[in-house]
Amino acid sequence: MKYSLIDIKSTHYDDKTAGGLSFFEGERDVPFKIRRIYWIYEAEKGTHRGFHAHTLNWQLLFCPYGSIDIILDDGHEREKVTLDSPSKGLVLSPGLWREMIWNKTGSVLCVAASEYYDPDEYIRDYDKFIEYVKNKESEQ
Ligand code: TYD
Repeated sequence: MKYSLIDIKSTHYDDKTAGGLSFFEGERDVPFKIRRIYWIYEAEKGTHRGFHAHTLNWQLLFCPYGSIDIILDDGHEREKVTLDSPSKGLVLSPGLWREMIWNKTGSVLCVAASEYYDPDEYIRDYDKFIEYVKNKESEQ
């Protein structure tokens, strides 16, 4: 499946009660040029969002607070990745169906994306997604 997990650099003071600091730099740590950053917050435990694929966007997903399951589907198989640490990053290439499930109230999902927002670049119907995957595969 076309995704990779990256380790987001993170630092702590010796005094752990002072918290951590995580960071990444465009093009150095992320394999695409970042055009947009958005985040989802104040969602309750059990919230289920997503249910779409992107045709153009590369994305880096990370969860600076809480725990969120990311279910990925490439039209053939499903895999689950749990984002439960500020230093875990999930890089998704275009063409993956995703669903997100909140494991903890208030978990924050941040996304760095390669494209500006364009609703026409989304596939929001699962049957159309399967059709898209088949068409892509027949082009290869
Ligand atoms: P949406 O993609 O439907 O969220 P999810 O799939 O996670 O449930 O986005 C919710 C709303 O926010 C929708 O009206 C579009 C808008 N939106 C923007 O205007 N710009 C953006 O960059 C994003 C991600 C969403």
